[in-house]
Amino acid sequence: MPRRPRHRYTAATADKYLLYQKAVQSPEADLELLARVFRRERGRRARRLREDFCGTALLSATWLAMHREHFAEGFDIDPEPVAWGLAHNFEPGDAARCRLHLKDVRAAGDVQPDLRIALNFSYWVFHTRRELLEYFLRARQSLAADGMFAIDLYGGPDATEELEERRKCGGFTYVWDQARFWPGTAEYTCHIRFEFPDKSSLKAFTYNWRFWSLSELRDVLYDAGFTRVETYFEGTDAKGEGDGEFKRGVRGENCAAWLAYLIAFV
Ligand SMILES: C[S@@+](CC[C@H](N)C(=O)[O-])C[C@H]1O[C@@H](n2cnc3c(N)ncnc32)[C@H](O)[C@@H]1O
Repeated sequence: MPRRPRHRYTAATADKYLLYQKAVQSPEADLELLARVFRRERGRRARRLREDFCGTALLSATWLAMHREHFAEGFDIDPEPVAWGLAHNFEPGDAARCRLHLKDVRAAGDVQPDLRIALNFSYWVFHTRRELLEYFLRARQSLAADGMFAIDLYGGPDATEELEERRKCGGFTYVWDQARFWPGTAEYTCHIRFEFPDKSSLKAFTYNWRFWSLSELRDVLYDAGFTRVETYFEGTDAKGEGDGEFKRGVRGENCAAWLAYLIAFV
């Protein structure tokens, strides 16, 4: 009987988009929370999603799978992850309910979204307040009359330390490398690396971001014309780790690292 290889992944065979999705994304949890908040706030179901910085558009594909009346638009300037996502994440019949645009997130879409999202901190690509304000302004203007815009962020003293965080992910280790932070400008360079049981490793992604704080972001959202901005903070488990449960809060908890969504309403 042929023996199964002990390890599925090595740097030579691994697919960086697949490993990214496995290690970093939780599309069902994100969308269930945001759909629940929308329904509670607006008294109806959100149907049209706009996913900014969509990459492989996993959230758009998951949104379509959640309900037959769901529609999704995704925006990303890089054709490579978008092509990967089209090949791997979607069902054959999805095309009629989804449009992926190879465009900047500040570009207009085809429909007015009920729920517009920019997750995994991708909007930190905007280094100046002027760029961020323009993006938030366009996001607000694009929404349906009762639409909602959601972004995520993290913070706490660990967030700007130059450190590596490692997590075993079943067959590979995900490494988040906070390589550089400059306090004077908040320039923030991070890498994602995957390490494998055969000792090989794959440098997969680099982000040259600006680190934005929660209060700065809330101010810019209000300046962009949103009338209400709510924070949903992740809770902590008995070990002090994030428990994946997000609750509305105002002040948050002063822990070493925290994660939150900012949800902005028109
Ligand atoms: C961190 S990935 C996000 C992947 C995925 N959406 C997620 O939530 O994990 C960031 C993506 O943003 C895209 N991107 C960067 N700047 C952009 C811009 N100005 N407009 C559209 N996409 C942009 C990159 O091509 C990349 O695919």
